[in-house]
Amino acid sequence: MYDAIVAGGGHVVPIAEAEALVWLEPRHADRLEDMLDANEHIGWVQLPFAGIEPFVHLINSDRLWTCGKGIYAEPVAELALCLALAGMRGLGSYARATRWTGESGRNLIGSNVTILGGGGISQAMLRMLEPFGCHVTVVRNHVEEMEGADVVLAAERYVDALAGADLVVLALPLTAETEEMISLTELEMMEKHAWLVNVARGKHIVTDDLVWALQNGVIGGAALDVTHPEPLPDDHPLWSLPNCIITPHVGATLEMGDPLLAARITKNVHLFAHDEPLQGVVDPDLGY
Ligand SMILES: NC(=O)c1ccc[n+]([C@@H]2O[C@H](COP(=O)([O-])OP(=O)(O)OC[C@H]3O[C@@H](n4cnc5c(N)ncnc54)[C@H](OP(=O)(O)O)[C@@H]3O)[C@@H](O)[C@H]2O)c1
Repeated sequence: MYDAIVAGGGHVVPIAEAEALVWLEPRHADRLEDMLDANEHIGWVQLPFAGIEPFVHLINSDRLWTCGKGIYAEPVAELALCLALAGMRGLGSYARATRWTGESGRNLIGSNVTILGGGGISQAMLRMLEPFGCHVTVVRNHVEEMEGADVVLAAERYVDALAGADLVVLALPLTAETEEMISLTELEMMEKHAWLVNVARGKHIVTDDLVWALQNGVIGGAALDVTHPEPLPDDHPLWSLPNCIITPHVGATLEMGDPLLAARITKNVHLFAHDEPLQGVVDPDLGY
C-alpha cells in the first residue's frame, strides 16, 4: 500500500505532516478515533473495506471519507454466482452424500432473480448473469435504469421483490434500514423452492429465523458467505442443515482484494492531489 500511495503521486509521511490518512485496519475503530482526535488537520480518510459499519459513528462531514465500495465487486459477484448455482443445483447435498442419491435441483437458466443492492457487486453480477437469460429485479435506494436488470425497485419496496423470485441475493450495505431486513416474515414471502444467497453482511438476516425456515422447508435453501454471529460457532445448527451452504467470508480473499484496494488507493491519491472528486465516497447521512 506504501507503493500504491507513491504510485498515485503521494508521499508517506509522519501523521503530523499528512493531509490524508490511509487506514488499513478493518476493525478497531477506537484506534482510528484516537488518531483522528489527535490529528484534526487530516482532511481525508481512506478505509479498506466496502462495508464501513465499525467506523460509521466516526463519519461526518468534517472531513472526507472514502471506502472500498465497489472495488471487490467482481470476486464477490463471482462467489455469489457460484453459491447460487451450487444451491439451486443441489451441490450442497450431493457434496455431503456418501452414496448415490436421487434427482434434485432447479435451473438458474431462465429463472427469476432478485438482487437487493444496486452497487458494485450487483452490477458485476448482472454482467455475469447475462448468459443465463434470467429475469432480474434489482432493489436499491436511488432508482435508475440498470443494464441487465429488467426491473429496478425502490428500497422501501424490497418485500414486493421477494415473492416470485427463484433466487434472492443480498448485496447491500449494513445500515439501520437493512439490519435484520430478512426475518421469518420476509422468508415466508419467498417461494418454497427459493434460494437465499448472502454475500453482504450476516446481520441482514435474523439467523434464528433462517434456521427455523430451513428446518421447516419455508425456503429451498441458503448459501451464506457472511453470518451472524461471525465466525459461525462450531456447534451452530446451520452447519448441519443439508439445505445450507456456508463459506467463511471469502467473497474477496486478501490475495484477491489487496491489488484491488491498492489500485483504489493509487487512483484516489492521484485524484486528491489534483483536487478532483474521489472514488468510493461515503455519504455520512446514508451511512454507506
Ligand atoms: N462477502 C464479502 O467478502 C464482501 C466483500 C465486499 C463487500 N461486501 C458487502 O457488500 C456490500 C455491498 O458492496 P458493494 O461494493 O456492492 O457496495 P456499493 O457499491 O456501495 O453498493 C451498495 C448498494 O446498496 C444499495 N442500498 C443501500 N441501502 C439500501 C437499501 N435499504 N435497500 C436496497 N438497496 C440499498 C445502494 O443503493 P444506491 O446505489 O441506489 O444508493 C447501492 O446500490 C458492502 O457494504 C459490504 O457489506 C461483502
